[in-house]
Order: sequence, then structure tokens, then C-alpha cells
Amino acid sequence: MDSVWSAEDEAIIATNTDATECKRCAVELGYWKDEYICYFAKRGERKAPEINRGYYARVRAMEMFIHQFLERCGTKCQIINLGCGFDTLYWRLKDTTQAVSNFIELDFPAVTSKKCHIIKRNKQLLEKICKEDGEVALRGGELHADGYHLLGCDLRCPGEVRRKLAAGGAAGALPTLLLAECVLVYLRPDAADALLRELAAAFPRVVLLVYEQCNLADRFGAVMRDQLAARGVPAPAPATHALAPPQQAARLLALGFDAARAWDMDAVWRALPEDDRARAERLEMLDERELLLQLNRHYALTVATRGALFADLDLNA
Ligand SMILES: C[S@@+](CC[C@H](N)C(=O)[O-])C[C@H]1O[C@@H](n2cnc3c(N)ncnc32)[C@H](O)[C@@H]1O
Repeated sequence: MDSVWSAEDEAIIATNTDATECKRCAVELGYWKDEYICYFAKRGERKAPEINRGYYARVRAMEMFIHQFLERCGTKCQIINLGCGFDTLYWRLKDTTQAVSNFIELDFPAVTSKKCHIIKRNKQLLEKICKEDGEVALRGGELHADGYHLLGCDLRCPGEVRRKLAAGGAAGALPTLLLAECVLVYLRPDAADALLRELAAAFPRVVLLVYEQCNLADRFGAVMRDQLAARGVPAPAPATHALAPPQQAARLLALGFDAARAWDMDAVWRALPEDDRARAERLEMLDERELLLQLNRHYALTVATRGALFADLDLNA
């Protein structure tokens, strides 16, 4: 199926600007370190403390499982970032001993071409991609370098995803980490299912991390759906996002993963090391505790795996 562009896609693309500005705000307040986010978003208005804390939990939880994945398979592996937006994980890993063999990022061409442009303009980003004698090919809003590929595609079109992954050098035999941070919610359930089914079949040693809304059937969920609709973003489908975390995990099992677990973000927050929580809590006063709790109960992290190597990934590992 070919990609059919719609006005809703514009609103979906705008969610990336929002996420990047929120991340920059939280980074500047000291929630976590990210030297690269400042290249991708202008300094926006200061966000509410519950938003900053929510973003901290989101980034910290993803990092926790990325680390568990890398601990088990080492750096001879690949990361595929679905709906990558302006995520900076590639550069953050480059500054550690955990830079991976191949890192592939996929998003709408409108997003990847902007990301390419920003990378091209900023030496600090470009030099991490380009080895001294290496080559970087930037063309048509895409970037190819040794170990990093940024590719435009519509995740609703399986054929396109397949072609782009092949162009990015994705290898079925390598341990693979699939990231879907606030992305699948923008796909219709049948399109998200088709994508995940295909990816689960393509990679026998794989970890999938999904962070997005859950429990949207209740009143608080209805407010969240209305807020998205007000921005022109299609409402998350009840068939998937009304689900509680255990049902979200069951959905991934049915799509071909061997094991899957999911937690709402309240559970994730409580499982973070006490020092981390205490440090984050000292950064800003939080008046709206109930609001944060409600927000946390309406976002989930789901971890689905294939292969014995990853069977024991857990929140408290
Ligand atoms: C909320 S942003 C999240 C970006 C990034 N994952 C993060 O967490 O910072 C959602 C991203 O998903 C991308 N996206 C949504 N639907 C897509 C589709 N059908 N094909 C490609 N990208 C898509 C959007 O363009 C946007 O960059």
C-alpha cells in the first residue's frame, strides 16, 4: 500500500516538536543530561512540574531497558527507532562505551529531512556520525553513514518499511532493539498490528519497547483523548488504548512475541531507584500530586521480547 498523506499527518508530525521541547525543558531543569537536545528544539515555555517529571520517568524507563538489552547482547547489535522524531539516543550512546553496530531511525520524510538538516548544520552532531575517514551521504532528506541511517517512510506501509530497513542495513541475524516511544498510538490498530507482526517475524532475537497511553476508557482518558482531538491528532483507538497494561502485553504476545510485560508509569516510577526519585523530587515542588498520579496511570511501558537471551528483562532487574 502506498502512503496517503492527510491533514492529520501534519498534526501527528507536530507532536514531535512538542515532545522535543518538553524534553529540552526537563533537561534544562536538571532532570537528566542530554548535550544534544538543544540542537533540536528552541527553548520553549517552562512546562508544569508534573509534565517534566512524567518526561523524566519516560526517558529513564526507556534507558533502563536499553541498558538491560545492551548488557545482554553487547554492542554487536542494532537499534531501530520507529517514529524517531528528534530523539538523541544515537548521540548519547556514542558518548558511552555502548555505541551499537547499527542504528536505524525511521519517521515521516518531513521529519527526517528536518533532522538531516539540523545534523548537517551542527558540527557536534555531524562529527559523531562521521568517522575521520568515513563518508556521510545526505540526500533526499535521508542520511546514510557507517552505523547510522536516518530514513523517511510511513510506518503504515509495510512494503516501505521493509525497503527502508533493507536500505539501512538491518540484519535479521543481529540482536535487535525496537523503540516505539509515543508512536504506535498514531497508527490505526490494524496498521500497528501489521507493523509489529512483521517486525516480530523478521527479528528472532528482539526486544521491543513501547511507551504510550493506556487505560483511556475512563473519564481522565476521555479528557486526554479530547486534548489530542483539539490538536487535530486522530483519537487513539479504543481497541488498543483503552486497554490496561496487562492487556497491552497480551496484544503483543498475540502478534508473535514470546514474552511481554507492561506496567503503568506509576509502577515504573515506584520501581526507579530511590535516589533517582528523590533527586527528581527535589528539583521542583509539585502541587498537583493527584494529577501526576492520574497521568502516570494513563501511560504504560510495554516490553516484548523474542529469544531466550532477553526472557528475563524486568522492571526490577
Ligand atoms: C510524539 S513524537 C515522538 C518522537 C520520539 N519517538 C520521542 O519520543 O521523542 C511521534 C513521532 O512519530 C512519528 N510518526 C507517527 N506516525 C508515523 C507514521 N505513520 N510513519 C512515520 N512516522 C510516524 C511522528 O512523525 C513523530 O515524529
